[in-house]
Amino acid sequence: MLDIKTIKKQFPIFQNQPDLVYLDSTATSLKPASMINKLTEYYEQYSANVFRGIYPISEKATLEFEETRNIVAKFINANKPEEIVFTRNTTESLNLLAYSLGRKIVASGDEIVTTIMEHHSNFVPWQVLASEVGAAFKVIDINEEGYLNLYNENIKYQISNIKSITNNKFKNLKLENVITKKTKILTLTYVSNVLGTINPIKEIISEAKKINPKIIVIVDAAQAIPHIKIDVQDLGADFVVFSSHKMLGPTGVGVLWGKEKLLKEMYPFMYGGEMIDEVYIDRSTFKESPHKFEAGTPAIGEVIAFKEAIKFLNSIGMDRVKEHEKKLTNYAIKIFKKEFEGKIKIYGPTNVEDRCGIITFTFDKFHPHDVAQILADTDICVRAGHHCAMPLHTRLNIPASVRASFYIYNDEKDVEKLVEGLKKVKKILS
Ligand SMILES: Cc1ncc(COP(=O)(O)O)c(C=O)c1O
Repeated sequence: MLDIKTIKKQFPIFQNQPDLVYLDSTATSLKPASMINKLTEYYEQYSANVFRGIYPISEKATLEFEETRNIVAKFINANKPEEIVFTRNTTESLNLLAYSLGRKIVASGDEIVTTIMEHHSNFVPWQVLASEVGAAFKVIDINEEGYLNLYNENIKYQISNIKSITNNKFKNLKLENVITKKTKILTLTYVSNVLGTINPIKEIISEAKKINPKIIVIVDAAQAIPHIKIDVQDLGADFVVFSSHKMLGPTGVGVLWGKEKLLKEMYPFMYGGEMIDEVYIDRSTFKESPHKFEAGTPAIGEVIAFKEAIKFLNSIGMDRVKEHEKKLTNYAIKIFKKEFEGKIKIYGPTNVEDRCGIITFTFDKFHPHDVAQILADTDICVRAGHHCAMPLHTRLNIPASVRASFYIYNDEKDVEKLVEGLKKVKKILS
């Protein structure tokens, strides 16, 4: 059991906004004082550039910066800190891969495979790459329960041709219907930012690599890493990407973890300062990774402060984070059913073991934006829209939805306030 009262005290926003019911951590999480203080410490005490200066405050900044790389590497059990590349966010990590890796290995006639439940950041860069080089862009469908449709003999890629299946056990994957020898890249999310579905990533990767040992598998862990323990070596992926700001860290920092050998073989993404080794009039040479991918001055203070977010999560324990969210999700689903039976449709798996603390729903015939607006009037923060997952909303046959998401500072009272807010919505809009 998490002690939410004690946790909340460590998030200064609740002192400034005591009535805040923050249910939008899927968009970005709130920030603990320890992380904010570290950011201030950098700007107040050693706000020099990294790698360049030989004077003490620059050396201190460099040391702190590289310590975060070590802590991130340990947090996800990377082989070495050199496998951690700092980017601006998940979106940039994925674009980096589409440019530096995708444009090197994908050619006309090849295939890129992704899923219908992706955030646009893991959809559009690959769609554009496929169309540029003339590769096939295959999209794995979901079934009616919000699981990836990986178990059907006749997996269809066409959105108009959907088969519903009931087997949601992570057995008997039928990936041979999707992955072929021509598939160069399989890129998919660990947790859906709309359905909350936790995909059986380890099993999918293992199956995909059995069918095509040369396939590169990229995991978008933006919604997974804040909530569940990730061990990149155990997963067996080639690349895993995520953002600091969704896991209590500052904005402006993303992570790209990749296998050292693959990072070495990849082209740089951006060229300029920091990433070069030597520059002549007719040619340049580049540093080894990760620095080869970190052109220009990075978000120094933010990278430095990011480690405090990881320390905070470690102090709670990722297993307890997951357990807490499961409990809240269970409670919310039950109370929604009791209070609004037949009026609220919740998307995603009904089994809370298979989902994270994300509840996306539609409420009667009410427009999601109206629902969110009325809730906002009483300080309840939820999201309305397509949540950067338009193909998924098209598949679900809805233009938009309302999303409430839970994290370590939410408790049952927040769920109850949401329910009270929804009763008010009903009263106003009926
Ligand atoms: C699953 C998933 N992938 C990628 C992203 C993009 O993250 P960022 O905006 O930090 O680049 C998000 C953001 O919500 C997400 O939920």
